[in-house]
Amino acid sequence: MLPVEMMPGVYWVGVNDYITQMFEGLWSIKQSGICYNSYLVRRTKTALIDLAKSFQTEELITQIKTVVDIGMLDYIVLNHVEPDHAGALNIIRQLAPKAVLVGSKITQKMLKAFYGIDFDIHVVSDGDELSLGDSQLRFITMPFVHWPESMMTYMPDEQLLFSNDAFGGYGLLPGAIYADLYDIEHLRQENLRYFVNIVAHYEKPVSKLLAKISDVPVRMIAPSHGPIWREGVTRLACWYQEWLDCASGKAQEAVTLIYASMYQNTERMMEAVAQGVVSQKVPLNVFNVSNVHVSYILPSLLERGGVIVGSPTYEGELFPPVAEVIRYAAEKKIHHRKAAFFGSYGWGGGAKDGFVCLIKPMAWELTDSLEVTGAPTEQDLQRAERLGAQFAQRIKTSEK
Ligand code: FEO
Repeated sequence: MLPVEMMPGVYWVGVNDYITQMFEGLWSIKQSGICYNSYLVRRTKTALIDLAKSFQTEELITQIKTVVDIGMLDYIVLNHVEPDHAGALNIIRQLAPKAVLVGSKITQKMLKAFYGIDFDIHVVSDGDELSLGDSQLRFITMPFVHWPESMMTYMPDEQLLFSNDAFGGYGLLPGAIYADLYDIEHLRQENLRYFVNIVAHYEKPVSKLLAKISDVPVRMIAPSHGPIWREGVTRLACWYQEWLDCASGKAQEAVTLIYASMYQNTERMMEAVAQGVVSQKVPLNVFNVSNVHVSYILPSLLERGGVIVGSPTYEGELFPPVAEVIRYAAEKKIHHRKAAFFGSYGWGGGAKDGFVCLIKPMAWELTDSLEVTGAPTEQDLQRAERLGAQFAQRIKTSEK
């Protein structure tokens, strides 16, 4: 997409990534894609804020050249050195030899490790400003949102916040850069998926950041992934607060059911359990972990207070893809959930014990369970339905 002038002299010069299938090698973006937003600020001096992945360097250069003579860049601001934002750095630097690199003290160290850059950059601390002549760039450090060197860049005169990974989302910008031109619920889902996949592990730093910027006047948020928010800035901050609240235990009165099944025995139980939950009018999301990527399951686990897990026993243990989803939830600090378990086993069992072991450090409270041998009987299915209904009642009445 061609560059877009967002404010007088401020341009989006980002690139869409239609190629990468797994972001960070972990998170599925097969359906969503992702974009790397880079910005140009043209004042008396010109600054380029954040870059793109290395394989899209040529495209990024074309974008920049559409707006300015790349050799005339005065500053390259590195809000974050992760290669999705700085992978293009070494080639851009060659084309912009007089551009001064700007970043935090930790950026200086990390540039050596990632890009072999060992000369002194312009180091900035929290609250420092850089003059572009007739505008200032102010830097707001946000350690661990997402890496220790991460920071935001703020333009006080425009009240424009280049927020890097914070407030970012998966998704491409195929025809427009502004959030208000896309379906808001879809954006919410993709921003939530990005939040829980990428930054939820750092919930305290995110919480500190929200407090830190709460009195900063912002008219526009320009993250490094996903659309630019010229409307709905408050809503975006509210979403973040809601998700943090969910992470700290104030989750919704709703249930996520994750299951896997080898020969449809556990799957038949799943249907009965689901019927029980729905009979109590409690919202339910069902995921077959063998078919749905974990990046799509984690948002539901984060937002909802109840988790029901259905798993067959596999080699005396929890079914591996089920265990993997729970380990991811632990990694993302999705703690303090009410949980129920069901499943079918062939002879000795073991899945439930494996489940209990996994959830202990996460402070998930197992309240209900049901295991059957082989194919569930009619009575087993009735018990499964009762388990679902009973668990749904617990979720409705659980203390907040
Ligand atoms: Fe978008 Fe932490 O990189």
